[in-house]
Amino acid sequence: MKSIIVIGAQWGDEGKGKIVDIYSEFADTIVRSTGGNNAGHTLVVRGEKFIFHLIPSGILHPGKKCVIANGVVVDPKVLLAEVDRLRERGYLKDHAQLKVGLLANIIMPYHIVLDRAREEKLGSRKIGTTARGIGPCYEDKIARTGIRACDLIHPDTFAEKLAANLDLKNFLLKHYYGAEEISFQSCLEEYTGYGERLKPYLIDTSSFLNEEINRGSKVLFEGAQGTLLDIDHGTYPFVTSSNTTAGGACTGSGVGPTKISGVIGVSKAYATRVGGGPFPTELFDEEGQLIRDRGNEYGSTTGRPRRCGWFDAPVVRYAHRLNHLAGIALTKLDVLSGLSRIKVCIGYDVGGTKRDEVPLSLPEFEAAKPVYEQVEGWKEDITTAKAFGDLPKAAQKYVRLLEEVSGVEVTLVSVGPERNQTIVRRNPFRS
Ligand code: GDP
Ligand code: IMO
Ligand code: MG
Repeated sequence: MKSIIVIGAQWGDEGKGKIVDIYSEFADTIVRSTGGNNAGHTLVVRGEKFIFHLIPSGILHPGKKCVIANGVVVDPKVLLAEVDRLRERGYLKDHAQLKVGLLANIIMPYHIVLDRAREEKLGSRKIGTTARGIGPCYEDKIARTGIRACDLIHPDTFAEKLAANLDLKNFLLKHYYGAEEISFQSCLEEYTGYGERLKPYLIDTSSFLNEEINRGSKVLFEGAQGTLLDIDHGTYPFVTSSNTTAGGACTGSGVGPTKISGVIGVSKAYATRVGGGPFPTELFDEEGQLIRDRGNEYGSTTGRPRRCGWFDAPVVRYAHRLNHLAGIALTKLDVLSGLSRIKVCIGYDVGGTKRDEVPLSLPEFEAAKPVYEQVEGWKEDITTAKAFGDLPKAAQKYVRLLEEVSGVEVTLVSVGPERNQTIVRRNPFRS
């Protein structure tokens, strides 16, 4: 039995999609347990690019089962469009390859409108959400008023819950936000239609996953977002509305923690962040722009330019503490090629006091000035390296430094977006 969780060790967009695609070869089932279509996971396979927002990144491997578990908030329109696009490209021919949790909460049109209206009202204090309705949908889930996938296939229950929700949401939209109201009838018809199309995929995903694990299948849990965006442990309120840390994989999928063999954290060889919130190593100069251009750091979901900065070791150490990482999959090392020197943040100066750990208070994190260690760069193109020993000595030294300062072994190095631009040093499914 082997069940591995892959999570983002920074602020999201670390390259989880690519890493999950690589590990999927060794797994039988791949699961998304948290988040929604705020995620954008990019894969490049033999020159073809795929971006997944909801469907697990293992879907391109024929015969592997992909599960969207109960903890995910599902926008059915986005999911069905993703299914259609995959079908057009010759994938997901057998609908049994994809399974969706009956208990997953559904993102409704009012969630999206509320997300946008609220951000607009916040003005300069906005979170910078992906505007996909994620927060408002999770709020309804926690308030126990949400509409779930199972409701969409029971028209009477659905109509009742929709009416109750619209009663309040339309009041808010009209009287608080000055926005347009949502029509009960058109929403009912549209979402009942989605329910019919989703029906063949809907199952008890917790039961399915536990049976799979009990009969010896290997399960790979695909995290979304990143550790610092976790609702409980991240840079609140500049976070998403779910648990992005490893525990979320268990609660979201209904698989017990003792069935998990290990957690792999994905981290870029530098750092990026989209949306607002503290980011001590952020670069505002031409070096930041160079990294953005070389790394093509523009959001997979919203197209927004990502904020770029140096590797922040306290952040990754924090991710290690929260997730207990068995290894780091280090991505985008190739983006740093050609820089004469590279900086690594090893701690912070907060108001004159040296700190080794991520400050828990937002004002302190915002005030944190990075303390850097500087290392030599390398000039060589590393995108064709097949083994760790193929990397220039300075690049090897840089990876070893990251291991030392983050306290975690780098078990995979990614040197380009393509599936085959990957150096696997230790495979979690085999060790
Ligand atoms: P995710 O949300 O964690 O799956 O990451 P995204 O897909 O949003 O962003 C990662 C981006 O980096 C994608 O465009 C990937 O194709 C790309 N990428 C992943 N690994 C590498 C790498 O090692 N080198 C380069 N140059 N690009 C990479
Ligand atoms: P993947 O899975 C990077 C960020 C948003 C915003 C905050 C809250 O591709 O790594 P939300 O729409 O979730 O309410 O936005 O979280 N965010 C992400 N940033 N990668 C993601 O997903 C993200 N999902 C949400 O930019 O700052
Ligand atoms: Mg992404």
